Amino acid sequence: MRILVIHGPNLNLLGTREPDVYGTATLAEIDSLLRERGRGTGAEVECVQFNAEGAIIDAIHRAAGRYDAIVINPGAYTHYSIAIRDALAAVGLPVVEVHLSNIHAREDFRRHSVIAPVCRGTISGFGPVGYVLALEAVLALAGRA
Ligand code: DQA
Repeated sequence: MRILVIHGPNLNLLGTREPDVYGTATLAEIDSLLRERGRGTGAEVECVQFNAEGAIIDAIHRAAGRYDAIVINPGAYTHYSIAIRDALAAVGLPVVEVHLSNIHAREDFRRHSVIAPVCRGTISGFGPVGYVLALEAVLALAGRA
C-alpha cells in the first residue's frame, strides 16, 4: 500500500506560521510522524509540499498508478481551486482531505471546500494528529486497519 501525502501552500512554514492557529510542529516533524506510522502498518508513505497550484496538480497526475490513496491538505486552494478538485476527480484514487485548523470555526471564506465533494472524507481541527487520522482512514478504506 502506497500513500501520497500532499501539503499545499504555506504549509512549509509550519512551526512559525501563526502558531496560535496551526501549532508549533514543523512540516518535517509531521512528515516523520506519518512515515513512522506508515512503517508500523507496512504502508509506504511519501510526503510532498508545493506552494504552486500547478505543481500540486502534477503530483496528483503522477500519483495515478503509483499510489493507492492520497491524503491532501490543499491549504488556501481548498476554498477555490476547481483545478485541484478536477485533478483529484480525474485520477479517481481515494482521497482524504485534512486541515490542521477547524475551517468551520474560522472566517466565512474558509468554511467552504471545493475539494470536499471529491474526497472520501475530511478531517479538520485536530492539528498534526489529523494527518495520522487521515492515514488511519485510508488504511481502513483499503481494509488494512
Ligand atoms: C488550512 C486551512 C486553510 O484555510 C488555510 O488557507 C491553510 C491551512 C489548515 O490546515 O487548517 O493554509 O488548510
